[in-house]
Amino acid sequence: MKNFITAILAWAGMIVAASLANCATAGDSASAPTLKDAYKNDFLIGVAINQRQFTGEDTNGVALITSQFNAISPENVMKWALIHPNPVTNAYDFGPADDYIAFGEQHHMFIVGHTLVWHNQTPRWVFQDENGRLLNATNAADRELLLQRMHDHIQTVVGRYKGRIKCWDVVNEALNDSSSLNDTNLLRRSSPWVRILGVDFIVKAFQYAHEADPDAILRYNDYSIENPAKRERLITLIKYLQSQHVPVMAIGSQTHANLSWPGVELEDSFLTEVSSLGLPTHITELDVNGSQGGQRSQSADITQNAQANGGGSQVDSAPEKLAQQYANLFKVFVKHRDEIKLVTFWGVTDADSWRRNGKPLLFDGNWQPKPAFDAVIKAAQP
Ligand code: G3I
Repeated sequence: MKNFITAILAWAGMIVAASLANCATAGDSASAPTLKDAYKNDFLIGVAINQRQFTGEDTNGVALITSQFNAISPENVMKWALIHPNPVTNAYDFGPADDYIAFGEQHHMFIVGHTLVWHNQTPRWVFQDENGRLLNATNAADRELLLQRMHDHIQTVVGRYKGRIKCWDVVNEALNDSSSLNDTNLLRRSSPWVRILGVDFIVKAFQYAHEADPDAILRYNDYSIENPAKRERLITLIKYLQSQHVPVMAIGSQTHANLSWPGVELEDSFLTEVSSLGLPTHITELDVNGSQGGQRSQSADITQNAQANGGGSQVDSAPEKLAQQYANLFKVFVKHRDEIKLVTFWGVTDADSWRRNGKPLLFDGNWQPKPAFDAVIKAAQP
């Protein structure tokens, strides 16, 4: 009898322990505050998601996405190289993007498309003729061919998801990255789009996207635009586009931050100055790099990421500093709640992140909230 009672107690203990463990999984607890609720009067809270998440394979990730966020961005699957890898007619791979959108619709989320025209993750054939010769800026037929390809791509992709994708990153990272105020080049010379078409590629990309879905919000998206030189270039570019009646409708500030950059004053002055353009701002790819190497970098370029993650070691007290930086940033975002319509994190957990060594997000690799999560929730309170 004694053995039986001991066995029952042990079994009951296991049940309680198991349900406690389940409760500890963020997103399961009905009463805990969530990010989307905490900011429901300020802006949407989005997250970039990957294929394992929108196909439901990563069940813990899905629980977090659906409980904490009300907007999604596709981290990779809608980039040109993935959705349109080959030149022949109808050479599109819509499967993953279709799944991404079905996931967003099933969970009633605001669905973002990322990204139509970018210098990265674009196949080489886009910039070559049928014989592999690079298209040339001085050749009118070459320019025409490139514009035709861009038009087909945008028409096909935006057209397919018309009315379902509410907001597009139309042009990504076109600005010259130099931090020198004396560098008068407006655009990124290393981009084939810039070299072959100049600023026309931006003008046309927005026009084509608007033509394909007149109701979609069309975004210009870039990183480090808080800094003086790039900020000035952003303002010059957007004013030029507006003077040409180009349908640019929102500024996407990626905000790939580190533990001290951007500081409160820099972020505040950036949001104030950018609002003078008369467009809403979206924070599109928020994360805060806690790795030692990441404290020297303010770039979101994938080629510089290995360096920024250097060695992978975290700075001392990184979790506390991470929480502080997130609290600072969200307080500034709330101050600018009239201009900011959406704040999107670039990944769900640290394990999903492109800079995972920098442990830059609000949830750890076991889907548990970090001190930074509490700091963000607290920053919503007046
Ligand atoms: O899917 C392949 C896999 O099959 C292969 O085995 C593996 C080997 O390297 O690569 C996998 O693809 C990687 C892909 O991420 C998916 O994980 C690519 O190599 C890698 O380059 C790609 O990186 C993405 C990067 O953009 C590419 O430019 C990151 O996930 C993504 O977070 C990052 O996101 C960008 C935004 O789109 C624009 N702003 C900057 C931001 C960070 O760089």
